[in-house]
Amino acid sequence: MKLAMRFGLSALLPIVILAAGCGSDSSSGGTAAGGSSTNGKSPDSGKKLVVGFSQIGAESGWRTANTESIKSEAEKRGVDLKFSDAQQKQENQIKAIRSYIDQKVDVIAFSPVVETGWEPVLREAKAANIPVFVSDRRPDVPDDLYVTFIGSDFIEEGKRAAEWLAAKCGGKATIAELSGTPGSAPANDRKKGFTDAIAKFPGMKIVFSQTGEFTRAKGKEVTEALLKSPQGSQITALFAHNDDMALGAIQAIEEAGKKPGKDILIVSIDGVKDAFKAMSEGKLNCSVECNPLLGPPLFDAIDAFKKGTKLPKRTVMKDGIFDETTAAKELPTRKY
Ligand code: AHR
Repeated sequence: MKLAMRFGLSALLPIVILAAGCGSDSSSGGTAAGGSSTNGKSPDSGKKLVVGFSQIGAESGWRTANTESIKSEAEKRGVDLKFSDAQQKQENQIKAIRSYIDQKVDVIAFSPVVETGWEPVLREAKAANIPVFVSDRRPDVPDDLYVTFIGSDFIEEGKRAAEWLAAKCGGKATIAELSGTPGSAPANDRKKGFTDAIAKFPGMKIVFSQTGEFTRAKGKEVTEALLKSPQGSQITALFAHNDDMALGAIQAIEEAGKKPGKDILIVSIDGVKDAFKAMSEGKLNCSVECNPLLGPPLFDAIDAFKKGTKLPKRTVMKDGIFDETTAAKELPTRKY
């Protein structure tokens, strides 16, 4: 009821299901939030809509594309976007969310760096009647603390990476895993999806797993140390939770005098342009797409909510999977 007051009486009207947002699917079975823009105006006042967005940081090419998508979409719609970069720290995100509450923004949106520890601050937002939209990574909180979550299915991504690798290596691989930020949803879920899928292949084992924190530099550093260790010579495949870590690993493998993509098969996740370049050079074998262009579906969802539409709790982005055989052809069409 209080949220309806913030956004005017339209929120009290019967539920309307909107047309789909670009490149996304509603997991609730209904159509995803989308449709016309309100030109960034708050319906009750005619003033610009004020949205506070707390971003994780700038750890990867994926994140840069995601930030750009959110900023450019806000600008296009005339939204007053208050954007903050938390530099990978949950405490900075919590501070940013509290400051948005103090500023009485119309909407808070965020991508949580880790899964846990969000309930108190989201309860504060709820008590202040500010709706919260979650993008990219889901926090582990009760459903009533946010309006909707828009992002990819990370478990499915890990599963796809494993299945692709199993087919490529005939079910036999000694695997090194470069995992993402500890405690983050993509690190937890991609590991689960991958591990569950290789359980069907007795010849596939993860013998090494360490975080590369989703960065190219750390991916390189961890792989360098691995290749210098006695275990290094046994590795036949590498699963990186994102492309940036895989690209760092490729440098380390080359510097160690081995051929990435041949001596060591490499599969990663994101589908950024640099990964397509590496695949077209045969250095990366496969990248499972994770679409970072979340600006349009996020602002579609905010618009729909303001008009009183009941949104699905979860909207899953549509993602593809690409490998070295088609990368050169696909590269010119890539948007990020
Ligand atoms: O949450 C999405 C993940 O975060 C991307 O896969 C990774 O590149 C990013 O840093």
